Amino acid sequence: MPWWTEHVVPRVTDVALRSRELGESRGRACAGLHGRVLELGFGSGLNLPHLPREVTAVDAVEPSDLAWRMSERRRSAADVPVTRVALDGQSVAADDASYDTALCTFTLCTIPHALAALAEVRRLVRPGGSFHFLEHGLSDDPRTRTWQHRLDPWEQRLVGGCHLTRDPAELVQRAGLTLGAVERGPLPGFRGPAPLTYGYLGSATV
Ligand SMILES: C[S@@+](CC[C@H](N)C(=O)[O-])C[C@H]1O[C@@H](n2cnc3c(N)ncnc32)[C@H](O)[C@@H]1O
Repeated sequence: MPWWTEHVVPRVTDVALRSRELGESRGRACAGLHGRVLELGFGSGLNLPHLPREVTAVDAVEPSDLAWRMSERRRSAADVPVTRVALDGQSVAADDASYDTALCTFTLCTIPHALAALAEVRRLVRPGGSFHFLEHGLSDDPRTRTWQHRLDPWEQRLVGGCHLTRDPAELVQRAGLTLGAVERGPLPGFRGPAPLTYGYLGSATV
């Protein structure tokens, strides 16, 4: 992992993504999670305080050692065991249908082959289980989209491979999951210019 991605990006994203309003969106993304949960791109553990009581364990997929260390306090304060089970959401060594539900926040933008990770979600979550997501991505506003395409190469370089031009809802559907309701629009509490802060909050059934 490049030095900047390993040592700077996890600190920047932890600060940028922990506002109170984003916490409310995290809470809404986590609603309905239960049982054994697979979380792709666990980061610094910002979703842990928002997990419903019905969650019994979290298996985290997280490549960054720094982000994992930064999550230590939140993991210690959590009511459920949190285990780091893999480093790459594109390939998780676990049996089919091992999980009741799965969660992914602000990560489908960064995983190199998001469809490969979603194929893993489809394999690893039991049939009828749900996948919950809160992501930023491609705007519905043509002018913002133009800027997203312009800025995308810079975003990828500066923010650890993050893309501005992915449509998470479309990716979820292409991966063969059954998409439920999705809210789209500027994310409350995600401060920054429009190309960076257009969000998707939704869930899908496996
Ligand atoms: C913008 S951060 C979001 C972290 C956290 N999900 C949150 O909402 O605060 C993106 C995370 O995806 C992780 N990531 C990058 N590539 C990944 C991959 N191939 N599989 C799983 N996670 C990945 C990064 O290390 C980082 O922690």
